[in-house]
Amino acid sequence: MPEPTYQPMTPAEVRVLRDELDAKGKKLVFTNGCFDLLHAGHVRYLNQARALGDAMVVALNSDASVRELKGPSRPVNRERDRAEVMAALRAVDAVVIFGDKRATALIEEIRPHIYAKGGDYTVDSLNPEELAALKSARSQISILPLVAGRSTTNTIERMMKPADGSGPLRLGVLGSGVGSNLKAILQAIEEHALDAEVVVAISDEKDSTFLKTAKAAHVPAHFVDGGHNPRRFNDAAHKEIAEHLQRAQVEVVVLAGFMRILKEPVLTAYADRIVNVHPSLLPMFKGARAVQDAIDEGELETGCTVHLVTSEIDAGRILAQATVPILVGDTAEVLHQRIKVEEHKLLPKVLSEWPRK
Ligand code: GRF
Repeated sequence: MPEPTYQPMTPAEVRVLRDELDAKGKKLVFTNGCFDLLHAGHVRYLNQARALGDAMVVALNSDASVRELKGPSRPVNRERDRAEVMAALRAVDAVVIFGDKRATALIEEIRPHIYAKGGDYTVDSLNPEELAALKSARSQISILPLVAGRSTTNTIERMMKPADGSGPLRLGVLGSGVGSNLKAILQAIEEHALDAEVVVAISDEKDSTFLKTAKAAHVPAHFVDGGHNPRRFNDAAHKEIAEHLQRAQVEVVVLAGFMRILKEPVLTAYADRIVNVHPSLLPMFKGARAVQDAIDEGELETGCTVHLVTSEIDAGRILAQATVPILVGDTAEVLHQRIKVEEHKLLPKVLSEWPRK
């Protein structure tokens, strides 16, 4: 294998770059970190940081300083490799390696125009020496948000999970409407709050936002023609659904705003593995008018329920519920939106706690 051609810069060379930019009225951004196993969170952060100025230098912690900061098992990748990968990114113009735990000496030497830092810091919670160096270099400090669910530690944890063959929970999601619950599931997966994969999405509405959402997320999506009765499926449609689910090796079926009644052979094939989300506190207000019915009954609160699906409508075992107050003047539409906010938390949570064999 050929040796890497990338040579990290020295701090003095970066200072020259900074002064050249300065002479042209341009700005150098500086950021620092370990950047051990690069992930999308790093890339998004670096792109944002780079957009603050006209060029960017990344100060990489040396192997010794990563060990000191993160423990003896880190870094996974040695500093030369990390520098080479880092320098190949579009957002990065220069890489410098530094051996201290803190970047104070580098900041003093380079005097960057902008200092970017990711995470939960505030200007006041920065290391006092680094802060003093930044103040004396008159660097502008910019704290950028980190991307939820992305971190090197997180990646390593997932890689270290015992290889018991469990893997992410394979979900088949069925819906007829807007698909906001499908979206919530996809987002929870994206943020690693839910270890699952939506392996198939099925709808009885050809032009539904539900199907569009699935396709946009690259989930295999199918329209199944259920026949004329909007609440029931004909036998052929049931068979087709069962085939889609089995072909995709679905473990749990999720009814997320699915408006038709599900029957055999799906019910038996997935007994105790079909969940529905319903906009009321079951057993109160079953059926399709649940939100309006709760208002009409003069209830002070309603909510949502995640429950198992059986042949009896909205009557299977309740897995979780959340309450939502009914406010004076609530229309069904307004109240339903507030209920959905709770559904979007409750459904992914139930799925994330799904017992595995
Ligand atoms: C949700 O309120 C759910 O409780 C009910 O249908 C609605 C679906 O909403 N069964 P969406 O399509 O997920 O936005």
